[in-house]
Amino acid sequence: MARDVFESPRGTRDFNPSETAKQRYVERALRRTAETFGFREILTPTFENAELFKAKSGPGILDEMFAFKDKSGRELALRPEFTASVIRFYLSDLRSEPKPLKVFTIGNCFRYEEPQRGRYREFWQWNCEIIGASSIESDAEIIALAVAGLKQVGLKQIETRIGHIGMLSSYLKFPPKEQATLLHLLDKKRMEDLKVELERLGAGDLYEPVSSVARLKGGPPVLDQAESLLGESAKESVKYLRELGEQLSLYGVKDFAYDLGVVRGLDYYTGMVFEIDSPNLGAEKQVGGGGAYSLTDVLGGEPASQTGFAIGMDRVVLSAEEEGVSMKPQPIVAYVVPIGQSMRARAFEILMQLRSAGLSADIDLIGRGPSKNLDYANAIGARHCVLVGEKEAAKGLVAIRDMETGQQTDVAISEIETALRGETKPPAEARTRNA
Ligand code: HAM
Repeated sequence: MARDVFESPRGTRDFNPSETAKQRYVERALRRTAETFGFREILTPTFENAELFKAKSGPGILDEMFAFKDKSGRELALRPEFTASVIRFYLSDLRSEPKPLKVFTIGNCFRYEEPQRGRYREFWQWNCEIIGASSIESDAEIIALAVAGLKQVGLKQIETRIGHIGMLSSYLKFPPKEQATLLHLLDKKRMEDLKVELERLGAGDLYEPVSSVARLKGGPPVLDQAESLLGESAKESVKYLRELGEQLSLYGVKDFAYDLGVVRGLDYYTGMVFEIDSPNLGAEKQVGGGGAYSLTDVLGGEPASQTGFAIGMDRVVLSAEEEGVSMKPQPIVAYVVPIGQSMRARAFEILMQLRSAGLSADIDLIGRGPSKNLDYANAIGARHCVLVGEKEAAKGLVAIRDMETGQQTDVAISEIETALRGETKPPAEARTRNA
């Protein structure tokens, strides 16, 4: 009896060709944007010593880590994110690179989360970091890059919210452990638990101002409101956010809200924090987030300014689908069809001529006749068929059939490539961009 087929592990996905094309479309758009902003790509290992992520990621990430021991008993973990790896790499090898160091990476991350639409155990991030630049300038560059990447993909309905973690952390003057607990409760919007925890710390009176500030969202007036609620502790971060807003306008980024309740789920943030939502995604609508953080000192180096973000590419694909962005795979340009067995050698010659010229071309591999070949070419979405018939070939010709219009034209064998290129439409990406 046949056994049940294997399934992929919970929270992981296979990507069929059209799903893969969508992921790759998004990847290309994001990679290109990072390059236009002067970021250089790096790669780090898929697994790291688990200790690296324990240093400062926070309980959220630690509970979700895929950690395991290797055969020598080393404690390892699949990367739940990139930032800790990038800073480790910076400290071990990239410290002497010219500053600011602007790097990005694209790859899969792993978190043991409850899977649902937009939330997976294996997912893909576009992660960008700037190390060693002045703070307002690099924070603005980072936010502008995240927004530009999503626009390049074609997303129009994104919402950017910018806050500053220093505002609440300098008001909540508690030892680091207690402060981290309070910020986590704020991040999870567990306001009742926050109240109880503040009361336990003998600071119940802080609940009102803190919860009010955490709800503030909107234009520059919310900064004044925060200052009047928190007083002196908010002064510096309010000034910072105002200047950051001005710097962002230099990039043409004006369409954002200050959101003073943005806390982020990772423990290493120290300054500006931001999140980007795609409202059409429902529960898992956060497509990206980041901010200024401090990890070089935690991981054994000297302090340096660091700021960055990661965009969840799987959610960007979902969002692009919702917004109707075309992410179709590139069609095969030519499907070569020999008319009769005697034309097979000639057809292969033409096939390889096209492939060597860099055109995508395919041919029958299972002995189908011409009409079945045309059906197949149609089914795989080939743009043209190149029909190689005996009579035409004797005159140095082939027939090129446009599969969309059904129109057939005789073309000299030496001209096939030019004819196909002339007729090839611009790629789907360019079409959406020009639309
Ligand atoms: P994060 O907010 O944990 O930040 O993740 C960034 C993005 O990755 C999220 O906004 C979301 O779109 C996506 N994401 C996270 N978990 C999942 C999941 N289980 N399934 C699908 N998508 C997911 C970071 O990772 C920081 N390292 C960002 C950063 C870089 N901060 C400074 N530099």
